Amino acid sequence: MCGIVGVLGKHEVAPILVETLKRLEYRGYDSAGIATLADGRLDRRRAVGKLVNLSDLLVHDPLPGKSGIGHTRWATHGGPTVANAHPHRAGGVAVVHNGIIENYKELRAQLSGQPFESETDSETIARLCEHHIAQGLSPRDAVTRTVNALEGAFAVAFLFDGEPDLMIGARKGSPLAVGHGDGEMYLGSDAIALGPMTDRVTYLEEGDIAFLTRSGVEIRDADGKLANRDVRMIAGQATQIDKGGHKHFMAKEMFEQPTVLSECLAYYAPGDTVAIPGQSPDFTDTDRVTMVACGTAHIACQVAKYWFEQLAGLPCDVDIASEFRYREPPISGRATALFVSQSGETADTLAALRYTRDKAATILSVVNVAESSIARESDLALPIMAGVEVGVASTKAFVCQLGVLANLAILAARQKGRIDAAREAELLAQLRALPGLISQALMGEEQIRRRTAKLAQATSALFLGRGPMYPMALEGALKLKEISYIHAEGYASGELKHGPIALVDKAVPVIVLAPRDALFDKTISNMQEVMARDGRVWLVTDAVGAAQAGDGVWDTLVMPAIDPIFAPILYAIPAQLIAYHTALHKGTDVDQPRNLAKSVTVE
Ligand code: AGP
Repeated sequence: MCGIVGVLGKHEVAPILVETLKRLEYRGYDSAGIATLADGRLDRRRAVGKLVNLSDLLVHDPLPGKSGIGHTRWATHGGPTVANAHPHRAGGVAVVHNGIIENYKELRAQLSGQPFESETDSETIARLCEHHIAQGLSPRDAVTRTVNALEGAFAVAFLFDGEPDLMIGARKGSPLAVGHGDGEMYLGSDAIALGPMTDRVTYLEEGDIAFLTRSGVEIRDADGKLANRDVRMIAGQATQIDKGGHKHFMAKEMFEQPTVLSECLAYYAPGDTVAIPGQSPDFTDTDRVTMVACGTAHIACQVAKYWFEQLAGLPCDVDIASEFRYREPPISGRATALFVSQSGETADTLAALRYTRDKAATILSVVNVAESSIARESDLALPIMAGVEVGVASTKAFVCQLGVLANLAILAARQKGRIDAAREAELLAQLRALPGLISQALMGEEQIRRRTAKLAQATSALFLGRGPMYPMALEGALKLKEISYIHAEGYASGELKHGPIALVDKAVPVIVLAPRDALFDKTISNMQEVMARDGRVWLVTDAVGAAQAGDGVWDTLVMPAIDPIFAPILYAIPAQLIAYHTALHKGTDVDQPRNLAKSVTVE
């Protein structure tokens, strides 16, 4: 999604703006631009593609000024062109915007006399603000009038001709933070953007408008009243984004998994019982768990469904957020609604959460960003402790989401009287063994690197699994698709013969995820149906499974032996490594795959 930065500085800001935008690259973008104010006059530079193109432009055509705003754009309305790139200007107003203005066509119609340069909804914001200034309103009042007329989701930052010590920011549906400097003030989409400039941050609330000068900020709430928002200290690691010696953020984050999962598990269960610091969920009276998420987070919910149902006996619904509220599902008054989101800003998931407001008994969220919109609108937000995840393909966040969900399912099982203390201790011991097993699984990287050289030549692939390995097959397919651009599908292996087996031939690699669980034999039978039709099977199982069923397969990836219940957490590793190395062979942009964004803050 788009990234926003603004600086009221003491020094030339163009280099700072570009460097800050580089920290927002992980959000995904296809054009970028900055605007600065020099001698009371706004000017801007914009470029399509990566930030290096903007930097090159600035080398040849510098932008002076100590006030500035910058933007990385992930195209929604209008393609990635210079004309559509932000900042947008109208007269003496420059604006950068993250989100979607849903009533931009009506607003454009009201401004029909004005010449529009772009196809974007965002330009309408600049034009409307300029219109109000032309009517005699001050910049402050013009922004307030403009923002109140916008429908949809937005985070915006404004600069004005003739106002060297004024920057205005506003949020509704997309995050925006104010940074407090020493004689400087900042705006940014998130703490990562502001990290190099300050560790003191104020997160704006829904409807807030922030009026910044170099001496401070005045925040007014949605009703126009003065609002007193906390200044929070952001921890250093919350803004650390370096590759730690790895070639890609995704590689770094995959290899961080043993550590961050250990920390996550220790936070939720330091001993032999689940003991969540502070407020703890209570499933005692819950009659149903409704889980809603998108993408990999949705897959985490699909895995957790097995745990809640098998351990706690709790019926579970799992929904894709973009479908959920439009189905208008009845929500039990005793239901626990649970939303999983790494970024905590996914618009579909946030909208689904709002649908359950006043319906479900409790709204829980499992998030990686404590200050995110989803966290703030939940009754209880549970952190996954994964640290900043920059790679667009979610890896360590996914594994930590599963770690938290496993703890919640164990807690629910105890509260429902389904497990005793000994069983709880046993389950937690199995969870605690996972970081070590993940470390072992990561050691299989070299074999995967070699085998994926062939996989990279395929145009389609299938992932198969049964039980909780079915959602893991979906995850393997999603990872492969999103970073190698190879079409892949995940299937319940028992479902293959009901149609998809027609896809099987020598050209289609079939990755079979088969820990030795109660369904192992059936999975192997399905695998043999594939091999009987010349399918190339890559069997992922443990040593005993490989000895029992490895004959004739294209290859076998031997995993550490594990008690089946938490095997999905371990089997995320081969799914990630297969996708990663296939993408390397194909030379795609692993950390910022085409068309994708790290946080999809538009519906
Ligand atoms: C996962 O690899 C993808 N990047 C994507 O599916 C992601 O999981 C999805 O967009 C949800 O994001 P969230 O967890 O921030 O809500």
